[in-house]
Amino acid sequence: MKNFFLTLHMISMCLVVGTLFLQSLTVVFRLRLKKQEEVEGAKNIQKRIHKFIYYPILGVTIISGMVLAMKTHVFSESNWIFPKLGLLLILIILGVLNGKQIQTDVLPKKYAMMVHIAIFLIAAGMVYLATIKPF
Ligand code: HEM
Repeated sequence: MKNFFLTLHMISMCLVVGTLFLQSLTVVFRLRLKKQEEVEGAKNIQKRIHKFIYYPILGVTIISGMVLAMKTHVFSESNWIFPKLGLLLILIILGVLNGKQIQTDVLPKKYAMMVHIAIFLIAAGMVYLATIKPF
């Protein structure tokens, strides 16, 4: 059963990070669109992905992670999980910010880029902690 949840955790976390990474990049790309109907079309797709793909798959990652945590007794036997959960909190905040940026029509490009780059760095930190398990 652990293998099942580990596989589910891996595929869902790839989708969470990949979706958020690309969604934040499309916020930057959307700033270049000139026609209002193009902006509306892109916004519509972004909103649907955020609501129907990003949030449900984040739920799957968190639930499968909690099952793994119970099966491996990670909270009592190692410490890497605590900073990983701290980074998860930041990733969730970045997801909320991405959702707000999707709703916004006028936005300085540097703010959109900041969210995009931060998503990459935080996700890299989480994957490092979970795979290397440094402490
Ligand atoms: C977006 C959020 C998350 C990402 C990107 C993520 C990423 C990862 C990665 C890359 C591994 C690799 C394991 C390996 O190499 O064997 C892993 C394992 C693990 N994750 Fe997550 N994770 C996330 C959320 C969570 C949550 C919310 C929990 C639980 C509270 C959790 C608990 C675990 C545990 C216990 C393992 C270790 C399983 C083992 O030792 O076989 N994860 N995670």
